[in-house]
Order: sequence, then C-alpha cells, then structure tokens
Amino acid sequence: MDKQAISNKFATLFGGEGEWFASAGRINLIGEHTDYNGGFVFPGAIDKGMVAEIRLNGTDKVRAFALDLDEYCEFGLKEEDAPSQSWARYIFGVCRETEKRGGKVGGFDTVFSGDVPLGAGMSSSAALESAFAFALNELFGNGIDKFELARIGQSTEHNYCGVNCGIMDQFASVFGKKGNLMRLDCRSMEFEYFPFDPAQYGYKLVLLNSCVKHELVGSPYNDRRASCERVAKVLGQEFLRGATMDQLEAIKDQISEEDYMRARYVIGEEQRVLDVCDALKAGDYETVGARMYETHWGMSKDYEVSCEELDFLATVAKECGVSGSRIMGGGFGGCTINLVKAELYDSFIATAKAKFAEKYGHEPIVIDVVISDGARRLEA
Ligand code: GLA
Repeated sequence: MDKQAISNKFATLFGGEGEWFASAGRINLIGEHTDYNGGFVFPGAIDKGMVAEIRLNGTDKVRAFALDLDEYCEFGLKEEDAPSQSWARYIFGVCRETEKRGGKVGGFDTVFSGDVPLGAGMSSSAALESAFAFALNELFGNGIDKFELARIGQSTEHNYCGVNCGIMDQFASVFGKKGNLMRLDCRSMEFEYFPFDPAQYGYKLVLLNSCVKHELVGSPYNDRRASCERVAKVLGQEFLRGATMDQLEAIKDQISEEDYMRARYVIGEEQRVLDVCDALKAGDYETVGARMYETHWGMSKDYEVSCEELDFLATVAKECGVSGSRIMGGGFGGCTINLVKAELYDSFIATAKAKFAEKYGHEPIVIDVVISDGARRLEA
C-alpha cells in the first residue's frame, strides 16, 4: 500500500493531513463455515490489508475517497443517508453500528487504499470495516472493546451489505497478532493465540488465487447458513455445534437431503479443527494437511461452495505431493490455501501455474502467507 499516494490525495482533496490507521485481511487454516454454527475457527491476520488516513472535519458529513477505485463519496450519518456505492456502504454501516452501540460518530474526511485481493476469500471487506471501526473508536474516544469492534463489522455486513456472515473475518482482522494463528470458539467467544511458524518444521503456507470471483452478497452464503439453522432447530439446539453424526442420522428423514449434506460437512469440520490444533501442538504437519484436504472435498461435495477451478487446484496440489490444500473462506471462487514442504514449493508452484494456465487461460496468483498484526494505529 502506497502511503505516499494516500497522503498526496488527502492533501489535494482536503488539505493538510490526518491520522493513520491500518487493518488486515486474513487466512484461515481450517474451520470453514463453522463460525455461524457456534463452532471453532482458526484464522490469522495477514500482511495485506487496508490503510486509511482520517481526520475529523467537525461537520455531520463523511467525505471519503477510495484510492484503488478512484471514487469519491460524500454521505450524512443518518439512516436515510445510506450511500449507494458498495464500498461506501461498509464505512456508512460502521458509523451506524458504532452509534447503535452508544458510540459517538461525527463527520470525517478520509482517503484509503488496500491490497487484499477482492473476492479472493481473504476478507477485504472485513479489513475495510475493522480499519474504520478501530479508527472511529480511537478518534471519538468511544472506548468500545475489541470484540464489539469486530461485531460492528459483522453487523455492517448483516444490516448494510446483505451478507449474514459469522464473526471470523472481523475477529481475525481486529485481533490478529504477528506470527500467531487464533483458535476462536464462536460459541463462548474464548480464543487462544497459537504461535505458528511452519518454516521451523520445513513447511510453507501459500495461497493460490484462482482469480475466480466469489460473490457472497445474495443468496448462496445465506442459504448455507439457513440450512444449518434448520437442522439445528430439528435437533433442538441453538447451533449445530456439538451435534454428532449419530444425532444427525437419527433425524435424517425429517430434513432435506441437501440440509443433511450441509450439516454433515459442518459436524465433520468441527472435529477437524480440533484435530489440527492437536497436530500442530505435536508438530505433526502431515495430519494438519490431511485434514485440509478433507475440508476441501467436504466443502466441494457436501457444502457445495467450491468450483471447478478450485477443485482442479486442490487435485494438482495432491498430485504434486503437497501436504494439504483446500479452498479458503466462504467459497464460490477465490483461493486455495496450501501447506507444502519447503523442498516441494518451487516445483509445486511451477506445475500449478502451468497446468492451471493450460486449462483456464491464465495463471493463478501466488501469495505467500505472512501472519501479521490486525487493526492498529500507524505512525504518520
Ligand atoms: C466468510 C464469512 C465468515 C465465514 C467464512 C466461511 O468469510 O464472512 O464469517 O463464515 O465465510 O468460513
């Protein structure tokens, strides 16, 4: 991210300078579509995120410039002032949700830019939300705690962007800590930092972005969530969390085949996260990888959120001897996350690029994972 370009634009549009804030996109090692089921997730913030220069302007208007899109938007802070540009709705939603929690929000000027690839399953929108949730909290001295800052982002998705998401992305973006993954229990909201250094064991973590764009807004993501909620209800539970395969089998004839498949995936995934945590503690990266493949095919066959290109990448990874590979994030496109032995890295990348390009006409983009800090203030 080019701070100089942000600063130049800020000076041109608004004069002078503001304060600086940053936040992060995320990866998730395992635990996909478990967050809204009250289960476990295992994300970490990454070195790609959002940087914003912000200054209060003493009015009741927000004046915002999205540097990457070269778009300007000005909006008020009342419910009826909601802007139409989708990027501006995230900022507007964060303002509204802050106010709903008793926080003060007034007008401000901002220029921001990000380097999380859009639609790649790396939570570009959570990075945007948490940058502003964190910044407004600091600038207005609201004293809102970090979990509530994450919830401000999540509620923004629910109420202003049409995605009924869980808490994982915003949590990771707010709480991320350099060199650490975090296992979050989405029912109790307790979490634990896990120092994560695959290099120490001779492994690398790398993303391959298929560049197939996913679109969570609209029905497919929300439909998955609705399936899970229907099954939980039949089981007499608030969440699928804690349900067993035996319990699911026992109600099989009361639910649709589709809902059964969705729940089967989620129940399996809950156990896989726990297995991966145990394996990591033992330095057993091969078990971590094996579970990643299981997640991939569960997401593909049972949860049906993969796509041909990502199935292809996971298959190529397996053929190359990669320890683990799976689709990451909500699905419907985006990246695979790959756990690969350091000595296989170069040949895997070369093979995946060549085979993918031969079949789909373009190479996947390689993104080496660097686990980094989440939302924070930057020095000017
Ligand atoms: C999206 C949502 C998250 C989570 C993942 C799937 O990223 O925003 O809450 O449900 O999908 O694990």
